[in-house]
Amino acid sequence: MSQQDKVIYFFGATGDLARHKIWPAIANMYRSNECFRIVAFGGKGPQPESGFNQWLKDVLQGQDIDIDAFAERIDYHAIDLLDHEAPLPVTLNESQTSVFYVALSTHLYRPLLERLSQYLPTPNCRIVLEKPIGTDLQDGLEIQKKLRALFTEDQIYRIDHYLGKRTVQNLLALRFANSIFEYQWNQKYIDHIQISIAESKGIDERAAFYDNIGALRDMVQNHLVQLLCLVAMEPPASLDPEAIRNERVKVLRALKPLSSHDVVRGQYTAGSIDGQPVKAYREELQESTQKNSSRTETFVSLKAEIDNWRWAGVPFYLRTGKRLPTKCCEIVVQFKTVPHPIFQNQKTFGSSNRLIFRLQPEESIKIELFEQTNEDRKSVRPSKLSLDTHELYGSSMDAYERLLLDALNGDPTLFVREDEWSEAWRWVDTVLKEWEQTATEPFSYMAGTWGPTQSISLLARERRTWEDPNS
Ligand code: BG6
Repeated sequence: MSQQDKVIYFFGATGDLARHKIWPAIANMYRSNECFRIVAFGGKGPQPESGFNQWLKDVLQGQDIDIDAFAERIDYHAIDLLDHEAPLPVTLNESQTSVFYVALSTHLYRPLLERLSQYLPTPNCRIVLEKPIGTDLQDGLEIQKKLRALFTEDQIYRIDHYLGKRTVQNLLALRFANSIFEYQWNQKYIDHIQISIAESKGIDERAAFYDNIGALRDMVQNHLVQLLCLVAMEPPASLDPEAIRNERVKVLRALKPLSSHDVVRGQYTAGSIDGQPVKAYREELQESTQKNSSRTETFVSLKAEIDNWRWAGVPFYLRTGKRLPTKCCEIVVQFKTVPHPIFQNQKTFGSSNRLIFRLQPEESIKIELFEQTNEDRKSVRPSKLSLDTHELYGSSMDAYERLLLDALNGDPTLFVREDEWSEAWRWVDTVLKEWEQTATEPFSYMAGTWGPTQSISLLARERRTWEDPNS
């Protein structure tokens, strides 16, 4: 197979996501001797000062790669998608696999699709779209209509890079390759589930983009919802992509409508992380956009409920935020206490068995159990069984690399199907609308803390507490 047989048309090639995630992933694919060529498109705005190749060298600095040889695979073009007269160097033919990788701001999706319609995508074309697709459900559905006029559903790859993380896939293996969990995996034995994606970083150079999006669209509607589906779904009949996606979408359809009463949104004020002072969100925003007020949320926590036989009455608490104390993603499955505790001190621990999947920064799976203390046969103490997947298997292929390879090879399993995507939008859309209409301010939280106090109350009102990672 030659490089000409697979072409990636990369839109948004000089953006923040491209710099931090996509180019490093493509460079890894190149190092692994994958055959492909890239046509990269950047905007017509200010160009990398020293030219694209030098920019790319800076981006890939420190990577073990012959950048000059890698750059020979890339044609770079600065284009204005809104200028319909300007030619778009896209050449499609039946014998070539072409992947359009779209990492643009969502308002450019329509103009791009209009431009692509001039090229009549061939059956072996695929389009990979970054989220969010649309600014709300209605907008997303309109973009979707344009997409479907050009591509069939099996050519559309909606990317959610969390689905490409090894631990996320391991979650399926753990649930469906072992029988010991399945019998306890329901409302009879599970008290509640917490899913947290915490980040210590702020909005970096993405202020303008982020301020139009906010945490609900950026993290909840996609990453958190997908993790929830994997934890809650029924066993699929096989690993066939559609079998898995069918089960994921059933969870989304069973989600109880989200009420703003069960959602806390926050925005960080100045504080400190790891002993270093950090600025407030509004200050960072003003420095890069001159905007001095904003109601955009940088934190969301919420209670989700799934109305089905397995999960009736089991709350799923989800939370995500920027400028939290640490970067970490964890899923905590909290089991119910034993019906009749016979060890005298067991009640004092206030919680029972827990299964903790840590997705990042390091991957691990822990089960918290009680065991007898040496000193007293009538007392127990909590201890941990731990599977350190990172130590066992070393670092894994980056999620973006895995997903890009899947898109090139035509495997949609780890991508989001249209019905999953629209159900996830539908679920958050009412709350987004309510926030817009009531124009209420988000709650404040100091950078370096676990969010607004209202987030703690969300659980406290149900006599539960957040399991803060590293605590
Ligand atoms: C992206 C969000 O999808 O995920 C970012 O747009 C966020 O705001 C990022 O920082 C987090 O991804 P990861 O893999 O670093 O946890």
